[in-house]
Amino acid sequence: MTLTRRHLITSGLAFAALPATTLNAATDPTLRTIPSTGVKVPAVGLGSWITFNVGNDPELLRASTEVIAAFLDEGGGMIDSSPMYGSSQDTIGHALEQLGRRDAVFATDKVWTGSMADGPEQIGATRDKWGVTRFELLQVHNLVEWRGHLDTLFEMKAAGQLGHVGITTSHGRRHREMERIMKDYPLDFVQLTYNLANRDAEARLLPLAREKGISVIANRPFERGALPRRLEGAPLPGVAAELGADNWAQLLLKFVLSHPGVTIAIPATTRVEHVRENKVAGRGPLPDAAQRREIVAHFQSL
Ligand SMILES: NC(=O)c1ccc[n+]([C@@H]2O[C@H](COP(=O)([O-])OP(=O)(O)OC[C@H]3O[C@@H](n4cnc5c(N)ncnc54)[C@H](OP(=O)(O)O)[C@@H]3O)[C@@H](O)[C@H]2O)c1
Repeated sequence: MTLTRRHLITSGLAFAALPATTLNAATDPTLRTIPSTGVKVPAVGLGSWITFNVGNDPELLRASTEVIAAFLDEGGGMIDSSPMYGSSQDTIGHALEQLGRRDAVFATDKVWTGSMADGPEQIGATRDKWGVTRFELLQVHNLVEWRGHLDTLFEMKAAGQLGHVGITTSHGRRHREMERIMKDYPLDFVQLTYNLANRDAEARLLPLAREKGISVIANRPFERGALPRRLEGAPLPGVAAELGADNWAQLLLKFVLSHPGVTIAIPATTRVEHVRENKVAGRGPLPDAAQRREIVAHFQSL
């Protein structure tokens, strides 16, 4: 696991006492800082909707474990799941157990039930599936019963049973409601859809997140795979070479990650080569404001 400021503080280590390798990790430019806690996480995480819903199929479980192994090999970071994602939580738990790396990820999941009273039990079941002792982040999925679940999550955080608290939405839905909650509650994270074809969050939520010091997770960075499929064979803009983006998937991710309001992107994949390609996109240069405009103009011209 990436050694973070919080881990250092909780373990009682002082910065001055750290070995040089740890200091390098703490200043790694590919890591993003969560403003509310100072914890650092790699910019490219891993989603799990559909991709890891593989049931008990041994071949698909092995393939999913290989994807997670490659993700960890490339620096690891946030893996995001939900009780809504079929067997994905079991698949992640299986992989982390096989790899002996349960403590190596920024474990991120959600609570998703219409009953506040059922939240703690669901969270307990989720923890058992992952096989972790606590989550780095729990989010209220799609704002379902958000008042009640936020009470639970803030209590867990205060008791040291949870690292961070967040809420999610997607597809540009319920942004006004999310905005109100961001203004009223001390959230660490929001998760929302942001990609080259869906930039609604640029208007209000991303600026507000910056202002309030709330970290943003961009979900559906590939519009559930539709963007790379649609753009396959289309010419890349000239700026792609300047940024070291070899293909559209990497440029799409660099675009998402270059918005100053975005903290982490969580593309999902079933393929080892894609997880490696996506991780590479988080390294090296990201587009500046002029380059972002060039990417948008080129995309709109296709
Ligand atoms: N409300 C919510 O809380 C909410 C809603 C939506 C999503 N999410 C989270 O966000 C995650 C990401 O969203 P998503 O899964 O909907 O869609 P996505 O990440 O935008 O797209 C996933 C698709 O992109 C393809 N892909 C991945 N890397 C690629 C690459 N390098 N080149 C070409 N294709 C690539 C994958 O196919 P291959 O398998 O072939 O690589 C997969 O079909 C979810 O898994 C979930 O964790 C949360």
